[in-house]
Amino acid sequence: MTVSGSPRLIVHGGAGDWVGFDEASVLAAVRKAAAVGWEILKGGGSALDAVEKATNIMEDDPQFDSGYGSFINAAGEVEMDALIADGSTLKYGAVAAVRRVQYPISLARLVMTRTNNLFFAGDGADQLAAQLGVPLVANVQMITPKELEAFVARQKEAQAKSRAALGTGTCGAVALDAAGHLASATSTGGTPDKPKGRIGDTPIFGAGGYAEDALGAASATGVGENIMRYFLCKRVVDQITGGTNAQSAAQTGLDFLSDRIPNPQAGIIVIGADGSVGAQHTTTHMPIAWVTADGDIQTTMKYEKALL
Ligand code: GLY
Repeated sequence: MTVSGSPRLIVHGGAGDWVGFDEASVLAAVRKAAAVGWEILKGGGSALDAVEKATNIMEDDPQFDSGYGSFINAAGEVEMDALIADGSTLKYGAVAAVRRVQYPISLARLVMTRTNNLFFAGDGADQLAAQLGVPLVANVQMITPKELEAFVARQKEAQAKSRAALGTGTCGAVALDAAGHLASATSTGGTPDKPKGRIGDTPIFGAGGYAEDALGAASATGVGENIMRYFLCKRVVDQITGGTNAQSAAQTGLDFLSDRIPNPQAGIIVIGADGSVGAQHTTTHMPIAWVTADGDIQTTMKYEKALL
C-alpha cells in the first residue's frame, strides 16, 4: 500500500521461532512500541524521535533481545549493539558491545548528534555515555531472571532451553515523518552464548539498518553473520526505485539472500520514500506492529502479504 505524504511506521520484535512465548503479550509489546512512535509522528514529530522512542519501549521489555532482556554471552555478561540512521543526512550513530547503558539506541543517537564520529564500541562507548551524561548501570542490572536461569542451566550442561532454541528478539523501528524524512533504529543483545566481543549485523550501517530519504529505510533482524555478509538493509532499500515498493524490495532481498545462504534466519521491515510499507522474514515468526493508512495499529506474529 502506498500513502504518500502521510507518516508511516512499522516496528519489529525480532525474527525467530518464538516457541513457548505468550503471543498476546509479545504482540501487546510491539503494539505499545508502535503506539509510542505513532503519537510522535501524529503530532508532527520527527521520524528519528519516533524510531528511538519506539525502540526504547522494546529495550525495556524483557521479552525482547535488546536492553533489559538481552541474551547473556559466553562470559556471563550482556553486550549490546545498536544503530540509528537518519535518512535526511545519511548520518548514523552506532554502538557495539556496550555493557553499562540501559538504552543502547539512545546512546547511538548521541553518537550521531553529539560527536564527530559514527561508531563507538566496548568500554569506550560506555565511557562516552558517562561523558554525555547518560547514567551508567551495572551490567547485572541488564540481566533478566529468565536469562540468568538459562545461563546457569547451560553452565551446568543441563538440558534447559534458552531462547537460543526458542526464538530471537532483536528489535527495530522504521518511520517516515510528515516532512518526508526517513529513519531507522535497531537494538540487540546479539545471539545467546556469543563469544565476548562478538558483534553482529545490528550496528553495521547498511547491514542491520539503513535510511536514505530518496529511497527508503530498513531495519533487519536475525542471525547477524548471515545478514552482514549480504548488507541486507542497503540492498533492499536500493531496490525501491521505479515502481518497486517496500514489500517487493523486502521479498526480493530475502529471496536472494536465501538463494545465497540457505536458511539465513533473517527478517526485515522497510518503508519506501513513497510511503509503501513492507516486512518479510525467513523464520517462522517475526512479531511486527504497523500503522495503517487510517491510523490503526495492526500486529501479527507472522507476516502475510495481504496484511500491509
Ligand atoms: N541480529 C542480531 C545479531 O545477530 O547480533
